[in-house]
Amino acid sequence: MDVIVINGGKALSGTVAASGSKNAALPLLFASLLAEGEHRFDNVPRLKDIDSTELLLNHLNCKTHRTGHQLAVTVKAPEDPVAPYEIVRKMRASILCLGPLLARYGKAKVSLPGGCAIGSRPINLHIEPLQQLGAHIEIENGYVIAEAKRLVGERIVFDFATVGGTENIMMAASLCRGTTVLENVAREPEIVDLACCLRGMGAQIEGEGTSVITIEGVNELKPAQHSVIPDRIEAGTLLLAAAITGGDVKVVQCVPADLHALINKLSDCGFEIETGPDWVQIKACHQWQSIDIDTAPHPGFPTDLQAQFMALMTQASGASVITEKIFENRFMHVQELARMGANISQETQVAVVHGNKGGLSGAPVMATDLRASACLILAGLATAGETVVSRIYHLDRGYENLETKLAGLGAQIERRSA
Ligand code: EPZ
Repeated sequence: MDVIVINGGKALSGTVAASGSKNAALPLLFASLLAEGEHRFDNVPRLKDIDSTELLLNHLNCKTHRTGHQLAVTVKAPEDPVAPYEIVRKMRASILCLGPLLARYGKAKVSLPGGCAIGSRPINLHIEPLQQLGAHIEIENGYVIAEAKRLVGERIVFDFATVGGTENIMMAASLCRGTTVLENVAREPEIVDLACCLRGMGAQIEGEGTSVITIEGVNELKPAQHSVIPDRIEAGTLLLAAAITGGDVKVVQCVPADLHALINKLSDCGFEIETGPDWVQIKACHQWQSIDIDTAPHPGFPTDLQAQFMALMTQASGASVITEKIFENRFMHVQELARMGANISQETQVAVVHGNKGGLSGAPVMATDLRASACLILAGLATAGETVVSRIYHLDRGYENLETKLAGLGAQIERRSA
């Protein structure tokens, strides 16, 4: 199993480009199931989760061909629209094939995704709206078994602005008969990117990026030709890597507007941030203030940057109260940071980080989930001495060559086979 070895304490500097967004690419690839033929996606990041998605699409009678960051998907009708447990268990986002398969073929059998390290990850907000659109759904032997002659448009109000639930229902509603109005939907940039792709396929959809999306169902969609938006979470992680090392870094090929919550918090801590049309630059700062954050649906502070921001707060002046309001168990990085000398007290959804500049020391630590991996790498960058991060298969799910990008900014970091 690979490990990442860091000898930190050096300020990062230079320019680095963000890759395409994992959390945009996954629903986009599943949207291809809505139309048979040749789809082409550009700016697709090279990640384990994309590999898992290709595996599932291949299982569903689709051919995939990758050339660099371009991914071509040739969709044909599956003999049997089934997403089996052995594939779904590798990536919970596989549940996003449910809406497209049901809408296109009138039936789908998809393994329940199960929970993961950060929470139980239920899918009731995927299932109930599909039932409102007329699907008959049973849960049997760990599978969601769904049937519908033709889904019929409805007004649906989500109990919570679920990202995946919004995506699944947007895709299903695109082929409904009649009009679907979705209220209290997620407003993430990845939702907007999916709507743009669906519109390019012939879907009649409006309101994306607001809390209400209206979709006029059509009888048929055509293959997608779409370029994936930049990954705002990777871009934010790179900015936080610069911040925690007292560095001066420009992140290019990103969307500053998608990073407003983080940029505002970094400015409030005392960092000087400049932005351009497709770049964000953070200037060196040698002592920053602690600040509180509550994670929230977009445009609030993203839960996917909570762990990385916590690493920054371990080096701040003062105490920071971090409240995780999206997932029930997204503080597993706290114990690992504590092993490096961080002073953090935690009660269920609230962690209080007592900042102590220079208080971290290199140590062997274990990644527990994707964003915790990034958090521990950032902590390692902040402190002299050697930090060894194990179980970095978590990291490879969602970051494309992160260690190479950081080394390009002057970090002493490398991947080793343990
Ligand atoms: C997406 O997950 C992202 N994943 C997550 O990124 C991200 O953290 C999350 O949105 C929130 O922004 C992808 O896009 C592939 P949700 P998703 O449905 O869709 C509860 C990363 O690190 N909920 O908005 O699963 C759920 O338990 C990953 O890149 C229900 O109760 O998130 C959670 O508490 C991690 N019932 C909250 O809503 C449901 O049916 C947010 O879930 C669905 C969700």
